[in-house]
Amino acid sequence: MRIVMIGSGYVGLVSGVCFADFGHSVVCVDSDRSKIDALNAGRMPIYEPGLDDLVTKNAKAGRLTFTTDLPSSVADADAVFIAVGTPSRRGDGHADLSHVFAASREIALACKGFTVVVTKSTVPVGTGDEVERIIREANPSADVAVASNPEFLREGAAISDFKRPDRVVIGTIDERARNVMREIYRPLSLNVSPLHFTERRTAELIKYAANAFLAMKITFINEIADLCEKVGANVQEVARGIGSDNRIGSKFLHAGPGYGGSCFPKDTLALVKTAQDYDSPIRLIETTVAVNDVRKRAMARKIIAAMGGDVRGKTVAVLGLTFKPNTDDMREAPSLSIIAALQDAGAIIRAYDPVGAEHAKGLLDQVTFAEDPYEAANEASAIAIITEWDEFRALDFQRLKSVMAEPLLIDLRNIYPQGEIDRHGFAYVGVGRAT
Ligand code: UGA
Repeated sequence: MRIVMIGSGYVGLVSGVCFADFGHSVVCVDSDRSKIDALNAGRMPIYEPGLDDLVTKNAKAGRLTFTTDLPSSVADADAVFIAVGTPSRRGDGHADLSHVFAASREIALACKGFTVVVTKSTVPVGTGDEVERIIREANPSADVAVASNPEFLREGAAISDFKRPDRVVIGTIDERARNVMREIYRPLSLNVSPLHFTERRTAELIKYAANAFLAMKITFINEIADLCEKVGANVQEVARGIGSDNRIGSKFLHAGPGYGGSCFPKDTLALVKTAQDYDSPIRLIETTVAVNDVRKRAMARKIIAAMGGDVRGKTVAVLGLTFKPNTDDMREAPSLSIIAALQDAGAIIRAYDPVGAEHAKGLLDQVTFAEDPYEAANEASAIAIITEWDEFRALDFQRLKSVMAEPLLIDLRNIYPQGEIDRHGFAYVGVGRAT
């Protein structure tokens, strides 16, 4: 199959590279020339484990190319995926679809022969209808079918998520389009096909419903964690106790500083707005958004309380800045609000992140960036783990203690078992575990 991927951001790049690795011929298009030049030179615009090797391998094999030239790539394609950004629109929280619609117009003018146009970006219900309308208006003779194929991959595990998905949702009732999509995803079907064919609007809603449900699940366990602290229970054991019931499931029950990233905050907000527009409000998700928003600053108050209530002039060593490990993505990272609130209270921040420091530097004022956890902990009155990078799981506590003003660890990801570091003379505060 000849595939064009428009937008070489997270979803577009990973999907394009993986399709090429399946053996398809893939052209990744982006209007940002510097990004395309970098990719052609083998430099990745994002940090994702395993991505650079896969790009190099498939580019070498001639199956994967990068260009800014949309029209000539689209002319030869069997399927054109739209994977451009859909950020929250400033002011009203709706998804900003201007890039999706601009790409649709360009595709309409360039396509030749039967072409499946596929929205892979996360787009609100009804966007496929609008894409189709734009294409028909721009080029009434275009032979296209518009399908929705939302992506469920996670940053940091993107390649394995793409290649071993729980399901692939394809929203179109057009038989020719279904056949093209079957062919594209055929390499995934070993014994059982993961393909779910639906109507287009249903596919669009599945994506939002999935992200909103996961965000709600995290928010639920976070509120249970708060209650655990009050009643003297342990949230990890509660999560295990409820999660082993298959109807609930054990994943996404890790209490922490609140969800962040480029997807959950934006998608929950967009679903709330869509539901309100249709006069069918989803109050559970409205509440999820509100609870998660206040949680980040509440985590700063938790750190301040652990430090005795007054952090003026005291140093806090922050370990982990990105919204989760194995990414350099700082979008909506809880660390941003937590650090701002600690600074408002007069704390001095020394921070360390294994990969995200470069991005974080542009977003954080008055923060000293360290080269490792020990340098960050120098003269600190507390360490706060905000992101659970693997390299924080076996810290040398003797060494930390020798450089710190006070040996206190606030573990907002519960990566250390309760009681484990007491023997090093450290005070320890986790989340949802009565101390
Ligand atoms: C999320 C979804 O998991 C993907 O399925 C989806 O494709 C993607 O959004 C998207 O829409 O593009 P991602 O944002 O990469 O993926 O990251 P997650 O691993 O889902 O984590 C999101 C946030 O939730 C992080 O801040 C993480 O720390 C937090 N989280 C996750 C918890 O606090 N507790 C958990 O148990 C799980």
